[in-house]
Amino acid sequence: MTLIDVIVSDITPETPTVKSITLVKADGSPLGPYLPGAHIDVEGPTAITRQYSLCSTPDAPDSFVFAVKKEANSRGGSAALHELSVGDTLRISTPRNLIAIAEEAQHHVLVAAGIGITPMLSMARYMDVHGISFELHYFARTESEAAFLPLLKDRCPDKLHQHLGVTREAQEHVLKDELAELPPHTHIYTCGPAGFMDKVFAVAREHVSPDAIHLENFHASEQPDASANAAFEVELDGETYRIPADKSIVEVLQDNGCDVDTSCQEGICGTCIMQVLEGSPEHRDNVLTRAEKESGEVMAVCVSRTRGQRLVLDYY
Ligand code: FES
Repeated sequence: MTLIDVIVSDITPETPTVKSITLVKADGSPLGPYLPGAHIDVEGPTAITRQYSLCSTPDAPDSFVFAVKKEANSRGGSAALHELSVGDTLRISTPRNLIAIAEEAQHHVLVAAGIGITPMLSMARYMDVHGISFELHYFARTESEAAFLPLLKDRCPDKLHQHLGVTREAQEHVLKDELAELPPHTHIYTCGPAGFMDKVFAVAREHVSPDAIHLENFHASEQPDASANAAFEVELDGETYRIPADKSIVEVLQDNGCDVDTSCQEGICGTCIMQVLEGSPEHRDNVLTRAEKESGEVMAVCVSRTRGQRLVLDYY
């Protein structure tokens, strides 16, 4: 994956644990625009690469803004980004969308919890400016921990539904109330902790089809123990490679000189997705949509394997 150098031009504390970081190109040329909901890979000072949603105005080309929550058990990623100063250099990828505004929808319901507000923010900014029908439900423990809440209150108070201090046990009840009466052709989008998104999906599923539910998931799934894996074969460009139980497809392809881009290696960023021409993938990622997984036409080769003996793949 190609990364470009960018300069930190501004750092703003949004909450006691969240900072937003503004990036520009050193030569002043535009970075954007980007599609609402997009994320970038950010290689921080410790060379750890993580995915962060963009939360600036998608139409504004001059800079990108992303927000970082300092995790209590950070292994260097978020903690190092919190130590940045204006003028420091980072390396970022071009924006990619794992979640995007569905053009066919007539109304959009955004449901965010905690730092999951970031992709929802760029989508809300875009829909607000472009007169697209939406509502935003924002769950946070307290007002002071709700990043960008003052901005949302100022810019789209009539679209914003604050749910502060709702316990985990009560979240489902609130969601059921809020999603009970949706206009026709509504799509629902969510980002937050995995357990929260599971609740949103379950409640949303009572009202809309799975294709109308969009998850932004930056959490890796727990992978089965490698001892439970079986070996199989992968064909790519007419060459056949044996994938042993203890190696991923991407490891074997890269060991053999195949040019497969990767970033997270955890099934959450979407960089390594390849086409499946033959065979049946066993999906272990958190990046493909349910519909994409059911189609069997694409797979994330950093974590996923096959239910059969052989896959025929092609570059995406
Ligand atoms: S490298 Fe990120 S999903 Fe495979």
